Amino acid sequence: MDHEQSFASYEQDALKSIEAAATADALEAARIEFLGKKQGRLKDLQGALGSVPVDQKPAVGKRFNEIKDRVTAAWEQKKLMLESAPKKAAGSEFDVTLPGAGLSLGKLHPLTQTIEEFKDIMARLGFESEEGPEVEDEWHNFVALNIPEDHPARNPLDNFYLSVASTVTKEARLLRSQTSTVQIRTMEQRQPPIRIVSVGRVYRPDQIDATHHMMFHQMEGLMVGPDVTMASLKTVLQLFATAYLGENVPVRFRPSFFPFTEPSVEFDVRRGNGWLELGGAGMVDPNVLSACGYDPEKVSGFAFGLGIARFCMMRHGIDDIRHFYENELRFLQQF
Ligand code: PHE
Repeated sequence: MDHEQSFASYEQDALKSIEAAATADALEAARIEFLGKKQGRLKDLQGALGSVPVDQKPAVGKRFNEIKDRVTAAWEQKKLMLESAPKKAAGSEFDVTLPGAGLSLGKLHPLTQTIEEFKDIMARLGFESEEGPEVEDEWHNFVALNIPEDHPARNPLDNFYLSVASTVTKEARLLRSQTSTVQIRTMEQRQPPIRIVSVGRVYRPDQIDATHHMMFHQMEGLMVGPDVTMASLKTVLQLFATAYLGENVPVRFRPSFFPFTEPSVEFDVRRGNGWLELGGAGMVDPNVLSACGYDPEKVSGFAFGLGIARFCMMRHGIDDIRHFYENELRFLQQF
C-alpha cells in the first residue's frame, strides 16, 4: 500500500468513527485510536514516513499534516457538539437544557417597591405596619381627628362621599382623604406605647395634573408613649430620610397647621441647594388623644403623613405622577 492509500484509509476510518461517536467516551476512544500521540494509527502513519524517499519527503509530509489537521478539526467539532447537546434528565422526556420561551416574570409596581422599602426602614426603627379601610366614616376621617363640622376640609365637594347619613345608612361614608384615620383606629384598639406606620391610598377630588391625582398614596406614622416629644419626631424623620436617601440629609421643620396636631409642622429635606417638601407632622393634639380614650396628661405622641409618589419620582427621575396609574408596560418594565 502506498502512502496515499494508507492516508486515505486512515482519514476515512477516523472520520467515520468520530462521526459515529455518540458519547464523550466513544469520542475519547476515537481520539486515542486515531490521534493518540504515543500509539495508534496516526503514530503508525508517522512511522511509515521514515521509509519515504528523500525527494518525496516534503510532499508526503505536507499531505500527512493536511490529513492530520482535518481529522483533528473534525474531532474538535464533534466534541463541541456533544458538549452543547441537550441533555435529558435520566428517565425523562423533559429536556432541562432547552432554552425557555422567554416569558417575562413581571415585577412589582414602582410605587409598591417604594412602599416596601418605606415599611422596611420604619420596621428597623421599631414601627409596625398597620392597615385601615379605604371606605371610612366621618368619625375616623374627621371628628376624632378634631376636624369640626364647619371645617372646610369636610366640604362635600372636596371629598368623595359615597353616602350621606340617613335613616337607612345611619352614618355617612366616604373614601378616606388621609391615612390619619389609622391613627384613630390604632389608638382605639391599643394602649400605648405605640409605634406604627400605615401605608395606603387616599382620595381627593383634585384636578389631575403632573403632580396631583385624585387617588394617591400616603404613609402615616404614629408614636405614642409617656415621653414622646418633638425631638423624637425630628429624630425619626431624620433617620428615615437618611435611610431612604442614603446620605445624611438635613431635615427642616416649618410651622404649619393641622387640626389634629399641636404644634404642627411641614417637614422638608435638603435637596441640592433647596428643600424638598415631604409632608406634614406634629404632636398629636390632646383632643385627639382624649377622643381615643387616652389621658393627655399621661401620654403624648407625634404623627406624620407623607406622600409616597414624590420619593419614588425623585429617585427615578419620573416627571409626571400620572405615569403610575396608566399601566403602560413600557413605563412599568423599567423598574
Ligand atoms: N394628614 C395630613 C395630610 O394629609 C398629614 C399629617 C399627618 C399631618 C399626620 C400631621 C400629622 O395632609
